[in-house]
Amino acid sequence: ELWEAMMAAGLTRTDAVAALGGGVVGDLAGFAAATILRGVDFVQIPTTLLAQVDSSVGGKVAVDLQAGKNLAGAFHQPRLVVIDPDVLQSLPDRAFSDGMAEVIKYGCIRNGRFFALLEALGSRAAVMEHIEDVLICCCDIKRQVVENDERDKGERMILNFGHTLGHSLEKAYHFQGPSHGEAVGVGMVRIVRASEAAGFTARGTADEIVSVLQAYGLPVSDPISDQILAAGAVNDKKSLNGKLNLVLLKEIGRCAVVPISQ
Ligand code: GLY
Repeated sequence: ELWEAMMAAGLTRTDAVAALGGGVVGDLAGFAAATILRGVDFVQIPTTLLAQVDSSVGGKVAVDLQAGKNLAGAFHQPRLVVIDPDVLQSLPDRAFSDGMAEVIKYGCIRNGRFFALLEALGSRAAVMEHIEDVLICCCDIKRQVVENDERDKGERMILNFGHTLGHSLEKAYHFQGPSHGEAVGVGMVRIVRASEAAGFTARGTADEIVSVLQAYGLPVSDPISDQILAAGAVNDKKSLNGKLNLVLLKEIGRCAVVPISQ
């Protein structure tokens, strides 16, 4: 319907698609822009925190299939991303917290000082007082990572910290349970607890992540067991040719991609 409507509206190759909304809108509009007339320009105008710090930046656009999330898509960079922090004032608390999980993720993987700032701020109100710095820090980390590895063959995988188990958790609830950010928060805690126990990650790291997630109203545990989540991740692994890349923290601000084979 969307593609037909764009043609009915007289879209030409010199027009651009504007995506005004959260991640689903940006992904759908971006995928439509990537494919209509073999590709037209598009502009992202993200209105959720999660979209402002993650999905609107970096050019991944996709839609879900019955078989799973984001399975039909493209890499199609927006010409422009317009971020207005004021629109975040209208988000419900749960949606703000959802985005905070990805904000915290950036501190974990790349910037210990930023993580410490988030610990010190500790509330939505305090983050909103520094929102421009927070958004710039996240988008700048994402820009650097995507510039180095746009097609997700190496460094870009670090953006998936917490996502392997998180995605498995979302799937276990048929995407009707925890939100994406909530699942990523639980995924970060679980993977860091495991890598801490294995001696890979500095002791105390998981507890630090737990307290910052809790400060922003995010869950840090879930009744679904590690075994079930790991089994879900292994199923994903099979579809990826038997290889699973785990993103592990050495410490807050420093991570590594560790390939696990069958
Ligand atoms: N959201 C992960 C990525 O853009 O690669």
